[in-house]
Amino acid sequence: MHELTLDTVSLDYGTGNQPVLDRVALKLRQDEFVVVIGRSGAGKTSLLNLAAGFVEPTEGRVLLNGKPVSGPGQRRVVVFQDDALFPWLDALDNVAFPLKLERVGLAQRRAEARRLLSLVGLARATNRRIWELSGGMRQRVGIARALAAKPAFLLLDEPLGALDALTRSQMQELLLDVWAKSGVGALLITHSIEEALLLGTRILVLAPGGRGVRAEFRPGFGRRLLAGESAGALKDLPEFLALKRELVALIEDGERTELAA
Ligand SMILES: Nc1ncnc2c1ncn2[C@@H]1O[C@H](COP(=O)(O)OP(=O)(O)O)[C@@H](O)[C@H]1O
Ligand SMILES: [Mg+2]
Repeated sequence: MHELTLDTVSLDYGTGNQPVLDRVALKLRQDEFVVVIGRSGAGKTSLLNLAAGFVEPTEGRVLLNGKPVSGPGQRRVVVFQDDALFPWLDALDNVAFPLKLERVGLAQRRAEARRLLSLVGLARATNRRIWELSGGMRQRVGIARALAAKPAFLLLDEPLGALDALTRSQMQELLLDVWAKSGVGALLITHSIEEALLLGTRILVLAPGGRGVRAEFRPGFGRRLLAGESAGALKDLPEFLALKRELVALIEDGERTELAA
């Protein structure tokens, strides 16, 4: 069981403003689906970039299984909203690409890429070129390619933000399914409260102004979605609506505090 830790990290971009993140602590286990939510500018992307090793904390450390890490590494891969797939390769070879870098043989890497494409529901699109795929399908290729590196953690910064509502809700269920089947830990950034509630085993509400984690929830709707209950029915549950109201209040209150400061 891998564990990714932000050990009381602070981040200051050196712009003379207050730190973007001030002594934030976060422990992410490989069996968790952690969702970070907060207003724009709260430091969500900065937090993910620290976890990914794209930026180094000004104070504190990032640990993988208790050992300090610096810089990006294969155990933590990032899925971006607009993933840069290689247009000259078909879906299969895009997914196989990280394995090629690892010098895995052609037959073996294509077999693995096929397995991953079917995990993301694209078994029938293996030989399609990237421009023949819809936005949601491209995103799935991006997720399969990220998984090809055999990460312990998948880091996702608002990956579904550019999709239409219907594709987005399909992709939410797909992400949950991929998480459950692949055994990777997920850290998802979103500004959608419903998405956070449906997917997260844990939700962290990031306060604005670098003040770190304002509240934490363990909703449990994702398990029910995986067990076959429909997203629509879950969203209508009184406990879902109550948590949603609580999150709206927390995030909006955070915004008011920020404006008053
Ligand atoms: N590379 C950077 N240099 C300086 N300031 C930055 C940089 N990246 C982000 N910021 C600032 O840090 C704050 C948090 O940004 P960000 O982490 O992108 O928040 P979020 O993803 O929650 O919208 C913002 O005020 C933003 O302007
Ligand atoms: Mg962001």
